[in-house]
Amino acid sequence: MTRALALVLALLPALALAVDLSKTQRAEIEARIKPYSQSCAAGDASCSGAAAQPEVAAARSGEDVYNAACMACHTTGAAGAPMLGDVDAWAARMEKGIEALYASGVNGVAGTGMIARGGCMDCSDEEIHAAVDYMVNSSQ
Ligand code: HEC
Repeated sequence: MTRALALVLALLPALALAVDLSKTQRAEIEARIKPYSQSCAAGDASCSGAAAQPEVAAARSGEDVYNAACMACHTTGAAGAPMLGDVDAWAARMEKGIEALYASGVNGVAGTGMIARGGCMDCSDEEIHAAVDYMVNSSQ
């Protein structure tokens, strides 16, 4: 009797660990399969937000992205944004190289009104790069 009790007591931590592990694993597995369990047809009212987006959306052109996300500041010069068509302002920026400007488009410019992706959080890096190209090419 005492030996059996001792055995159970000795095994308890191992049992607790096993339960703990499987809980963690369960959570991980649930998180992993979640994206696939949320399937829905386009236009379905139960689809919302990113889940409703087709997996491979056609990339928008630089001009489209500019008009949708960048124009608000870069057409008006709001908060000191270099304006579209301002050759001097963009020439000065271009001295840093196009890669630096791409990085500013994607990451924003810390401490300024230039927020990451110009606020277009569903824009891909490529779409932001295209918008930067459009702005630079329209300002030479
Ligand atoms: C909320 C206003 C705002 C929006 C929206 C905005 N910008 Fe800007 N942007 C700024 C400001 C302000 C600056 C100047 C930052 C500075 O002082 O260097 C700037 C600067 C830039 C620069 C130059 C950065 C550098 O390193 O010299 C690029 C490139 C740029 N924006 C790209 C974009 C693109 C692409 C979009 C749209 C996807 C966008 N911006 C949307 C405000 C904005």
